[in-house]
Amino acid sequence: MRQNIVAGNWKMNKTLQEGVELAKELKEALQAQKPNCRVIIGTPFIHLTEVCKIVDQDLIGVSAQNCADHESGAYTGEVSAQMVKSTGATYVILGHSERRAYYHEDNAILKTKVDLALKNGLTPIFCIGEVLEERESNKHFDVVKSQIEEALFHLSADEFKKIILAYEPVWAIGTGKTASPEQAQEMHAFIRKTLAEKYQQSVADEISILYGGSCKPSNAKELFANPDVDGGLIGGASLKAEDFMGIINAF
Ligand code: G3H
Repeated sequence: MRQNIVAGNWKMNKTLQEGVELAKELKEALQAQKPNCRVIIGTPFIHLTEVCKIVDQDLIGVSAQNCADHESGAYTGEVSAQMVKSTGATYVILGHSERRAYYHEDNAILKTKVDLALKNGLTPIFCIGEVLEERESNKHFDVVKSQIEEALFHLSADEFKKIILAYEPVWAIGTGKTASPEQAQEMHAFIRKTLAEKYQQSVADEISILYGGSCKPSNAKELFANPDVDGGLIGGASLKAEDFMGIINAF
C-alpha cells in the first residue's frame, strides 16, 4: 500500500559503534514522538544485525544498501539477499546511482538483484535518475523510463506492488543543489504515468515514489507537499538524528 516514507541511506559512513549510537538516538526520538510516515534506515552491511536488535522494526525499518546478483557461492566480498534477510533487515536499496557509476551496475544486473531481493522477502528501494548532461539534453524522461522498463517491467503487478521507487537526479546528490518541487513533481508524475501504462492506474497509485538529492529539513516540506512525492531517500542529512528527524517531521 502507498505509504509516505522517509528512508536514510548512510552510504559508507559510521563505524559500527557510531551506527549503533545513531540507531539508538533515532529510536528514542521516534518513541517520544511517533512519526507520520514510515521511517527506514539503510546501513552498511556490518551494522545490520546490531541495528536490527536495537530498533523495533514497526518503528524503524532496516535496509541494506545493496545485495549480490547471485544466490550464493564463490563471489568473494559479496553479500547475498538471503544473508541480508537473515540479519533481520527487510529492505534493500538497489540501483543507487553510486552503484551504477562506480560499480558498473547496469539495468540487467539490477533486474537480477531485484528478483533475488523479492525471492528472499526483501522490499527493494529501487533508485532511478538522470545525470546532468541527460537533463540538459532533455533526455531525462527517456532515461528514467528505460531504467524502470529494463530492470522492473518483467515483474507481475503483484510483484511490482512490493517495490518502492526513489527518483534521485544524480546532479542533486550530495551537491547541495536540490530539484525544485516542480521538477520533482513533474518527474514523479511521469513515473506514475509510466507505471499506469504498463500495469494499471490502481497499481501505479499504490507505489511509493521517494525523492532523493540534497533533501534537508529546510526543503523537505515543500518537496513532500507534491501529490506524487511520497517522501524521501536521504543521504547526508540522515547521518545526524536531529537532521533526519527534521525531515521526518516534514510529514
Ligand atoms: O541515497 C541518497 C541520495 O543519494 C541522496 O544523497 O541526500 O546526500 O544528496 P544526499
